Amino acid sequence: MTTLTIVLTGACGGIGRALAVAFASAGHNLVLIGRNPDALAALREGLERPRSHRYIVADLSSAEAITELCSDIADGSAIDVLVNNAGTSSFGVFAETDDAVVEHMFQLNVLAPMRLCKGLMPLLLKSRKAAVINVGSGFGSIGFAGFTAYCASKFGLRGFTEALQRELANENIAIHYLAPRAVNTALNSDKVVAMNAELGNAADEPEVVAAAALAMLQLNKSSNRYLGWPERFFVRLNALFPSIVSGALKKQLATILRYAKSA
Ligand SMILES: NC(=O)c1ccc[n+]([C@@H]2O[C@H](COP(=O)([O-])OP(=O)(O)OC[C@H]3O[C@@H](n4cnc5c(N)ncnc54)[C@H](OP(=O)(O)O)[C@@H]3O)[C@@H](O)[C@H]2O)c1
Repeated sequence: MTTLTIVLTGACGGIGRALAVAFASAGHNLVLIGRNPDALAALREGLERPRSHRYIVADLSSAEAITELCSDIADGSAIDVLVNNAGTSSFGVFAETDDAVVEHMFQLNVLAPMRLCKGLMPLLLKSRKAAVINVGSGFGSIGFAGFTAYCASKFGLRGFTEALQRELANENIAIHYLAPRAVNTALNSDKVVAMNAELGNAADEPEVVAAAALAMLQLNKSSNRYLGWPERFFVRLNALFPSIVSGALKKQLATILRYAKSA
């Protein structure tokens, strides 16, 4: 196995931590990105071969911070992989969602991955095993009531990923889109967890996402992966016959709105 140097955003979050453990255990070296230096230091110390990893503190909602981050990464060492995992969500009816929340979501979920791809692409293209993994969501393919802004941002990330895959088809880099279903992390509020339970929506552990990401690193070409059954079936159904999915979701709307209106 080739040892890769992997830049991982959102490293201290629920999925990020599982990704860090899986990548480090597989022998890869990490550049951990987050906002909290103590949490980053503790994460690094808990990984296998802590001295092989470094961390950089950055708030990805700022374009200037991302420019600085890219130059810090470039000063450190060569890199092979960028994993755009940092993200935020919000649950509630759209009419009651603050504009600032929507703007922040697009900064973090869409613009930050785009800026990091652009800023780090010259470095990545020097690698013989270059890859980007954009962590999307099933909600990047299925519009779901109560998550309008989040869905819009993840649709944006998926569109960016697809276009980049096609634009870089002749380059030696794999661009992956990894779309988990619900995952048991702090991203989901108690209301979301309760709603999912009532609707019968299953949730994975973060390690399921990490295993899928690790498998992506073995691939030599771009890929898209949707986790969970029947979620990945609904992604395809929604692409082909959206009215069927609209009909099914309408039956759940009263339940969703009961949670979303009080969120
Ligand atoms: N959980 C789910 O149900 C689910 C389902 C599908 C997709 N996803 C996607 O999976 C990814 C990871 O989510 P998660 O469930 O692990 O969420 P999480 O536990 O809330 O972690 C989110 C991570 O994003 C980072 N972050 C938030 N705002 C940031 C900012 N302004 N600058 C830099 N980093 C920031 C956080 O960093 P700090 O440590 O600095 O706070 C944290 O590490 C997201 O892209 C999410 O959309 C999650």
